[in-house]
Amino acid sequence: MKLIGLRNSDASAGIDPAGSGQGKAGHGRTRKRRFLSAVLLFGLFTVFTKPGRSLSRTVARWLDSRLENFADPGSSAYAHVFAPFLGQLYRRVAEDAAGELVERGLSRKPHILDIGCGTGDLVVALSRRLRDARIIGLDLSPSMLLYAGRHATTDGRLRFSVGDAASLPFDDGAVDLVISTLSLHHWAEPADALAEIARVLRPGGVALIYDLTLLAYLPDEMARIAADAGLEAADIEREGVGGGFVTRLFVRFKLEGLAEE
Ligand SMILES: C[S@@+](CC[C@H](N)C(=O)[O-])C[C@H]1O[C@@H](n2cnc3c(N)ncnc32)[C@H](O)[C@@H]1O
Repeated sequence: MKLIGLRNSDASAGIDPAGSGQGKAGHGRTRKRRFLSAVLLFGLFTVFTKPGRSLSRTVARWLDSRLENFADPGSSAYAHVFAPFLGQLYRRVAEDAAGELVERGLSRKPHILDIGCGTGDLVVALSRRLRDARIIGLDLSPSMLLYAGRHATTDGRLRFSVGDAASLPFDDGAVDLVISTLSLHHWAEPADALAEIARVLRPGGVALIYDLTLLAYLPDEMARIAADAGLEAADIEREGVGGGFVTRLFVRFKLEGLAEE
Protein backbone atom coordinates (compact mmCIF):
# COMPACT_ATOMS: atom_id res chain seq x y z
CA MET A 1 0.00 0.00 0.00
CA LYS A 2 1.33 3.40 -0.91
CA LEU A 3 0.95 6.20 1.69
CA ILE A 4 0.71 9.74 0.45
CA GLY A 5 1.72 12.39 2.99
CA LEU A 6 -0.02 15.75 3.11
CA ARG A 7 2.33 18.69 3.11
CA ASN A 8 1.45 22.06 4.74
CA SER A 9 1.41 23.69 1.34
CA ASP A 10 -1.24 21.18 0.19
CA ALA A 11 -3.42 22.05 3.14
CA SER A 12 -3.13 25.74 2.50
CA ALA A 13 -3.97 25.13 -1.15
CA GLY A 14 -7.24 23.64 -0.03
CA ILE A 15 -6.42 19.95 -0.63
CA ASP A 16 -8.77 17.87 1.44
CA PRO A 17 -7.00 14.99 3.27
CA ALA A 18 -10.21 13.15 3.95
CA GLY A 19 -11.17 13.38 0.32
CA SER A 20 -14.54 14.81 1.30
CA GLY A 21 -14.18 17.70 -1.15
CA GLN A 22 -15.03 20.26 1.55
CA GLY A 23 -11.64 22.07 1.33
CA LYS A 24 -11.95 22.51 -2.41
CA ALA A 25 -15.55 23.65 -2.10
CA GLY A 26 -14.59 26.15 0.63
CA HIS A 27 -11.86 27.55 -1.60
CA GLY A 28 -14.33 27.83 -4.47
CA ARG A 29 -16.81 29.66 -2.24
CA THR A 30 -14.12 32.17 -1.15
CA ARG A 31 -13.21 32.88 -4.76
CA LYS A 32 -16.87 33.31 -5.66
CA ARG A 33 -17.39 35.70 -2.73
CA ARG A 34 -14.33 37.73 -3.77
CA PHE A 35 -15.55 37.87 -7.35
CA LEU A 36 -19.06 39.00 -6.31
CA SER A 37 -17.59 41.64 -3.96
CA ALA A 38 -15.43 42.96 -6.81
CA VAL A 39 -18.45 43.09 -9.14
CA LEU A 40 -20.51 44.84 -6.44
CA LEU A 41 -17.74 47.38 -5.75
CA PHE A 42 -17.33 48.03 -9.47
CA GLY A 43 -21.11 48.44 -9.81
CA LEU A 44 -21.19 50.95 -6.94
CA PHE A 45 -18.22 52.79 -8.48
CA THR A 46 -19.91 53.09 -11.89
CA VAL A 47 -23.30 54.11 -10.50
CA PHE A 48 -22.43 56.37 -7.58
CA THR A 49 -19.18 58.15 -8.50
CA LYS A 50 -18.69 60.78 -11.18
CA PRO A 51 -15.56 59.16 -12.71
CA GLY A 52 -17.35 55.80 -12.62
CA ARG A 53 -20.38 57.18 -14.45
CA SER A 54 -18.13 58.85 -16.98
CA LEU A 55 -16.24 55.57 -17.54
CA SER A 56 -19.43 53.59 -18.06
CA ARG A 57 -20.74 56.22 -20.51
CA THR A 58 -17.51 56.03 -22.51
CA VAL A 59 -17.61 52.22 -22.61
CA ALA A 60 -21.32 52.14 -23.46
CA ARG A 61 -20.89 54.73 -26.24
CA TRP A 62 -17.96 52.76 -27.67
CA LEU A 63 -19.90 49.47 -27.61
CA ASP A 64 -22.90 51.19 -29.15
CA SER A 65 -20.81 52.67 -31.98
CA ARG A 66 -19.80 49.09 -32.94
CA LEU A 67 -23.31 48.60 -34.32
CA GLU A 68 -21.96 49.89 -37.67
CA ASN A 69 -24.86 52.11 -38.68
CA PHE A 70 -27.34 49.31 -38.30
CA ALA A 71 -26.37 47.53 -41.49
CA ASP A 72 -26.37 43.74 -41.24
CA PRO A 73 -25.35 42.00 -39.00
CA GLY A 74 -26.04 44.94 -36.60
CA SER A 75 -29.67 45.26 -37.73
CA SER A 76 -30.27 41.54 -37.41
CA ALA A 77 -28.71 41.47 -33.93
CA TYR A 78 -30.85 44.46 -32.94
CA ALA A 79 -34.06 42.92 -34.30
CA HIS A 80 -33.53 39.54 -32.67
CA VAL A 81 -31.61 40.31 -29.48
CA PHE A 82 -32.40 43.87 -28.30
CA ALA A 83 -35.83 44.89 -29.63
CA PRO A 84 -37.64 41.93 -27.97
CA PHE A 85 -36.60 43.30 -24.55
CA LEU A 86 -38.06 46.73 -25.21
CA GLY A 87 -41.79 45.95 -25.24
CA GLN A 88 -42.28 47.66 -21.87
CA LEU A 89 -40.66 50.84 -23.22
CA TYR A 90 -42.75 50.87 -26.43
CA ARG A 91 -46.00 50.40 -24.46
CA ARG A 92 -45.05 53.17 -22.03
CA VAL A 93 -44.14 55.53 -24.88
CA ALA A 94 -47.46 54.79 -26.60
CA GLU A 95 -49.27 55.60 -23.33
CA ASP A 96 -47.34 58.88 -22.93
CA ALA A 97 -48.04 59.78 -26.56
CA ALA A 98 -51.78 59.12 -26.19
CA GLY A 99 -51.91 61.23 -23.01
CA GLU A 100 -50.09 64.16 -24.63
CA LEU A 101 -52.36 64.10 -27.70
CA VAL A 102 -55.53 64.06 -25.60
CA GLU A 103 -54.23 66.89 -23.41
CA ARG A 104 -53.52 68.98 -26.52
CA GLY A 105 -56.79 68.22 -28.26
CA LEU A 106 -54.91 66.46 -31.07
CA SER A 107 -56.11 62.91 -30.55
CA ARG A 108 -58.36 62.72 -33.69
CA LYS A 109 -56.44 61.18 -36.60
CA PRO A 110 -53.08 62.54 -35.42
CA HIS A 111 -50.06 62.57 -37.73
CA ILE A 112 -47.16 60.91 -35.96
CA LEU A 113 -43.54 60.68 -37.02
CA ASP A 114 -41.21 58.10 -35.42
CA ILE A 115 -37.61 59.14 -36.12
CA GLY A 116 -35.09 56.29 -36.16
CA CYS A 117 -37.95 53.78 -36.09
CA GLY A 118 -35.61 50.78 -36.47
CA THR A 119 -37.58 47.55 -36.63
CA GLY A 120 -40.90 49.38 -36.33
CA ASP A 121 -42.01 47.87 -33.00
CA LEU A 122 -42.82 51.28 -31.52
CA VAL A 123 -44.93 52.16 -34.55
CA VAL A 124 -46.92 48.96 -33.95
CA ALA A 125 -47.37 49.78 -30.23
CA LEU A 126 -48.52 53.31 -31.14
CA SER A 127 -50.99 52.01 -33.72
CA ARG A 128 -52.53 49.65 -31.14
CA ARG A 129 -53.00 52.51 -28.67
CA LEU A 130 -54.03 55.16 -31.22
CA ARG A 131 -56.27 53.32 -33.66
CA ASP A 132 -56.90 56.18 -36.10
CA ALA A 133 -53.39 57.68 -36.11
CA ARG A 134 -51.39 57.94 -39.32
CA ILE A 135 -47.85 57.00 -38.46
CA ILE A 136 -44.65 57.26 -40.48
CA GLY A 137 -41.50 55.49 -39.37
CA LEU A 138 -38.35 57.12 -40.74
CA ASP A 139 -34.91 55.58 -40.54
CA LEU A 140 -31.48 56.07 -42.07
CA SER A 141 -30.89 52.35 -42.39
CA PRO A 142 -32.57 50.44 -45.25
CA SER A 143 -31.49 47.29 -43.46
CA MET A 144 -33.54 48.15 -40.35
CA LEU A 145 -36.47 49.17 -42.56
CA LEU A 146 -36.58 45.66 -44.03
CA TYR A 147 -37.84 44.54 -40.62
CA ALA A 148 -40.09 47.58 -40.12
CA GLY A 149 -41.62 47.32 -43.61
CA ARG A 150 -43.39 44.12 -42.62
CA HIS A 151 -45.71 46.21 -40.44
CA ALA A 152 -46.74 48.65 -43.20
CA THR A 153 -50.46 48.69 -44.01
CA THR A 154 -51.89 48.87 -47.50
CA ASP A 155 -54.19 51.80 -46.57
CA GLY A 156 -51.12 53.98 -45.84
CA ARG A 157 -51.94 54.29 -42.14
CA LEU A 158 -48.56 52.83 -41.18
CA ARG A 159 -45.70 53.71 -43.53
CA PHE A 160 -41.95 53.43 -43.40
CA SER A 161 -39.40 55.41 -45.31
CA VAL A 162 -35.65 55.96 -45.53
CA GLY A 163 -34.72 59.40 -44.28
CA ASP A 164 -32.43 61.44 -42.07
CA ALA A 165 -33.45 63.20 -38.85
CA ALA A 166 -31.39 66.18 -40.01
CA SER A 167 -33.46 66.66 -43.17
CA LEU A 168 -37.08 65.68 -42.58
CA PRO A 169 -39.18 65.21 -45.73
CA PHE A 170 -42.26 67.04 -44.36
CA ASP A 171 -43.83 70.48 -44.69
CA ASP A 172 -43.63 73.01 -41.86
CA GLY A 173 -46.13 72.23 -39.11
CA ALA A 174 -47.27 68.97 -40.73
CA VAL A 175 -46.76 66.67 -37.73
CA ASP A 176 -48.78 66.52 -34.48
CA LEU A 177 -46.37 64.31 -32.60
CA VAL A 178 -42.72 63.45 -33.16
CA ILE A 179 -41.56 60.42 -31.28
CA SER A 180 -38.21 58.69 -31.05
CA THR A 181 -36.63 55.98 -28.94
CA LEU A 182 -32.98 55.06 -28.55
CA SER A 183 -31.97 56.96 -31.68
CA LEU A 184 -31.04 60.51 -30.63
CA HIS A 185 -27.48 59.65 -29.55
CA HIS A 186 -26.88 58.18 -33.03
CA TRP A 187 -27.84 61.33 -34.92
CA ALA A 188 -24.70 62.70 -36.58
CA GLU A 189 -26.11 66.25 -36.60
CA PRO A 190 -28.32 66.49 -33.52
CA ALA A 191 -28.71 70.28 -33.72
CA ASP A 192 -29.94 70.13 -37.33
CA ALA A 193 -32.29 67.32 -36.34
CA LEU A 194 -33.76 69.34 -33.45
CA ALA A 195 -34.22 72.35 -35.70
CA GLU A 196 -36.00 70.10 -38.20
CA ILE A 197 -38.24 68.64 -35.50
CA ALA A 198 -39.19 72.14 -34.34
CA ARG A 199 -39.96 73.06 -37.97
CA VAL A 200 -42.25 70.10 -38.78
CA LEU A 201 -44.17 70.19 -35.47
CA ARG A 202 -47.51 71.95 -35.69
CA PRO A 203 -48.14 74.71 -33.13
CA GLY A 204 -49.27 72.96 -29.97
CA GLY A 205 -47.74 69.67 -31.10
CA VAL A 206 -45.01 67.93 -29.16
CA ALA A 207 -41.86 65.87 -29.58
CA LEU A 208 -41.08 63.09 -27.08
CA ILE A 209 -37.55 61.76 -27.50
CA TYR A 210 -36.44 58.85 -25.32
CA ASP A 211 -32.88 57.69 -24.89
CA LEU A 212 -30.97 55.34 -22.63
CA THR A 213 -29.74 57.39 -19.66
CA LEU A 214 -26.27 55.89 -19.99
CA LEU A 215 -25.97 57.15 -23.57
CA ALA A 216 -28.20 60.23 -23.56
CA TYR A 217 -26.88 63.79 -23.75
CA LEU A 218 -26.25 65.35 -20.37
CA PRO A 219 -28.07 68.62 -19.60
CA ASP A 220 -25.08 70.83 -20.53
CA GLU A 221 -24.52 68.89 -23.78
CA MET A 222 -28.20 69.25 -24.66
CA ALA A 223 -28.13 72.97 -23.85
CA ARG A 224 -25.30 73.43 -26.40
CA ILE A 225 -27.17 71.37 -29.02
CA ALA A 226 -30.34 73.39 -28.41
CA ALA A 227 -28.42 76.65 -28.85
CA ASP A 228 -26.93 75.38 -32.15
CA ALA A 229 -30.47 74.48 -33.24
CA GLY A 230 -31.60 78.05 -32.58
CA LEU A 231 -33.64 76.97 -29.54
CA GLU A 232 -33.50 77.94 -25.90
CA ALA A 233 -32.13 75.35 -23.48
CA ALA A 234 -35.41 75.76 -21.57
CA ASP A 235 -37.38 74.68 -24.68
CA ILE A 236 -36.18 71.13 -24.08
CA GLU A 237 -37.21 69.43 -20.85
CA ARG A 238 -35.18 66.43 -19.66
CA GLU A 239 -36.67 64.00 -17.17
CA GLY A 240 -36.24 60.43 -16.00
CA VAL A 241 -38.93 58.07 -17.29
CA GLY A 242 -39.24 55.93 -14.14
CA GLY A 243 -41.81 53.14 -14.02
CA GLY A 244 -40.76 49.56 -14.71
CA PHE A 245 -37.48 47.68 -14.80
CA VAL A 246 -36.79 48.63 -18.45
CA THR A 247 -38.34 52.10 -18.66
CA ARG A 248 -36.43 53.39 -15.64
CA LEU A 249 -33.21 53.05 -17.67
CA PHE A 250 -34.41 55.88 -19.93
CA VAL A 251 -34.65 59.66 -19.96
CA ARG A 252 -37.08 61.67 -22.02
CA PHE A 253 -36.52 64.97 -23.81
CA LYS A 254 -39.66 66.94 -24.52
CA LEU A 255 -39.98 69.77 -27.01
CA GLU A 256 -43.21 71.68 -27.56
CA GLY A 257 -44.30 72.81 -31.02
CA LEU A 258 -43.72 76.55 -31.31
CA ALA A 259 -46.84 78.64 -30.82
CA GLU A 260 -48.16 80.41 -33.95
CA GLU A 261 -46.70 83.90 -34.37
C1 LIG B 1 -30.92 51.66 -31.49
S1 LIG B 1 -31.89 51.82 -32.94
C2 LIG B 1 -33.47 52.19 -32.24
C3 LIG B 1 -34.58 51.68 -33.07
C4 LIG B 1 -35.98 51.88 -32.49
N1 LIG B 1 -36.32 53.28 -32.37
C5 LIG B 1 -36.14 51.19 -31.17
O1 LIG B 1 -36.38 51.85 -30.16
O2 LIG B 1 -36.04 49.97 -31.12
C6 LIG B 1 -31.39 53.40 -33.59
C7 LIG B 1 -31.97 53.67 -34.96
O3 LIG B 1 -31.73 55.04 -35.31
C8 LIG B 1 -31.43 55.08 -36.68
N2 LIG B 1 -30.75 56.33 -37.00
C9 LIG B 1 -29.49 56.69 -36.66
N3 LIG B 1 -29.21 57.93 -37.12
C10 LIG B 1 -30.33 58.37 -37.75
C11 LIG B 1 -30.67 59.57 -38.42
N4 LIG B 1 -29.79 60.58 -38.53
N5 LIG B 1 -31.89 59.69 -38.96
C12 LIG B 1 -32.79 58.67 -38.86
N6 LIG B 1 -32.52 57.51 -38.24
C13 LIG B 1 -31.31 57.35 -37.68
C14 LIG B 1 -30.59 53.83 -36.91
O4 LIG B 1 -30.54 53.45 -38.26
C15 LIG B 1 -31.31 52.82 -36.04
O5 LIG B 1 -32.31 52.12 -36.74
